[in-house]
Amino acid sequence: MKVVHGDLFDGIIALPSFPVVLVTVDMNIMVAGAFHFYSFKPPSIMVGIKPEKYTYELISKKKEFGINIPTKDQLEKIHICGTLSGRDVEKYRKAGLTPRKGNMIDSYIIEECPVSIECKVVHEVDYEGSHRWFIGEIKEVYIDEDYVRDDSLMFWLGQFRTVGQVIEGAANNDILRK
Ligand SMILES: Cc1cc2nc3c(=O)[nH]c(=O)nc-3n(C[C@H](O)[C@H](O)[C@H](O)COP(=O)(O)O)c2cc1C
Repeated sequence: MKVVHGDLFDGIIALPSFPVVLVTVDMNIMVAGAFHFYSFKPPSIMVGIKPEKYTYELISKKKEFGINIPTKDQLEKIHICGTLSGRDVEKYRKAGLTPRKGNMIDSYIIEECPVSIECKVVHEVDYEGSHRWFIGEIKEVYIDEDYVRDDSLMFWLGQFRTVGQVIEGAANNDILRK
């Protein structure tokens, strides 16, 4: 039976896991789990960054970012980008990743990730909170021909997971495009 729970934070703890993405801006990389699409039309996504992060400083300044989807084989690189700060180390070099200059943004995206998305910031949510959300309109997309969603990662409460099984339905892009 479902009962009232004392700790309000547990409402967040109970959520399903979130996708692991690598946020790039300028020549820096950061891991984010606070990530979601924002709108289908225009295609936009949003990412939540804590204000003390170097990435927050860079996105606030450049008003753009890249979203790169890593694979389960890139966990070691994810650990580097998700624990060290670009204030102290050059993460492309440290993680052995290749910066590729964006087409529509001045910042770099990651060559080794099967999906990269270039975004221009259209809105910053300045409501007080642990994470500040940047909404980015998608300006360019790169997808590896061999990309399979099952190779991407989810994260929650210290655990990395793969996406999991299909239990019903066939993938249908048209549903979202209407
Ligand atoms: C799986 C994972 C998810 C993370 N999600 C976020 C997030 O959504 N927002 C955030 O501000 N930091 C998040 N972090 C922490 C940053 O990636 C980390 O503090 C990073 O070193 C910041 O780098 P920077 O100082 O170069 O910006 C996450 C780390 C990991 C490992």
